[in-house]
Amino acid sequence: MRSVSTPPPEARKLEEAEFHDKLRGLYETDPERYGYFTSNKKFYSVVKSSDDFYYDWLRRNATGKRILDFGCGSGTHSTELAHFAGHVTGIDMTPAMLNKARAAATQMGATNVEFVESEAEQLPFADGSFDVVVSNGVIDLIPDKDAVFAELYRVLAPGGRLQIADVTIQNPVSAEGRRNIDLWTG
Ligand SMILES: C[S@@+](CC[C@H](N)C(=O)[O-])C[C@H]1O[C@@H](n2cnc3c(N)ncnc32)[C@H](O)[C@@H]1O
Repeated sequence: MRSVSTPPPEARKLEEAEFHDKLRGLYETDPERYGYFTSNKKFYSVVKSSDDFYYDWLRRNATGKRILDFGCGSGTHSTELAHFAGHVTGIDMTPAMLNKARAAATQMGATNVEFVESEAEQLPFADGSFDVVVSNGVIDLIPDKDAVFAELYRVLAPGGRLQIADVTIQNPVSAEGRRNIDLWTG
């Protein structure tokens, strides 16, 4: 029989599997402990491991490069990226968010980050302006995905990289779910 060698799973996947193993059958035997593991602690530990993965990937792929933070909000990611990027440009359509982002960049003394008011569907940049685009929690908010991806493709330089962290759905949303605005807003 031919033996196939597969690489070992990443540490974060092992951690995730271990967490779920702990939960197996726990609800029936110890509901209180099950409640502890499935509280916000679980949510924040997943966010933390995703953050570690996110910045590790970017350090390896975007150090010294031109990064676009697409829908930068108050600049949380842009200001982190400024530590190792060549230059960071954050765009957002919300002036209040951009003011916060600028204040944060000034406070940390970053000179390689700028914030530009722009709509995501029509970016004010020449073709091929960026080596890396990052986008966190933005594309799901924009109905015209074709316009978004056309713009991202246009502003990325040939061979550029795109990193997206966003909400996806695996199953169709029910008519009732579509009508309930509380499910769609924070
Ligand atoms: C959930 S926040 C995420 C902010 C940031 N990426 C982060 O991770 O902290 C979404 C951001 O997308 C921006 N946004 C949504 N639709 C947009 C559009 N069509 N053009 C530009 N920005 C948009 C909002 O103004 C908001 O700041």
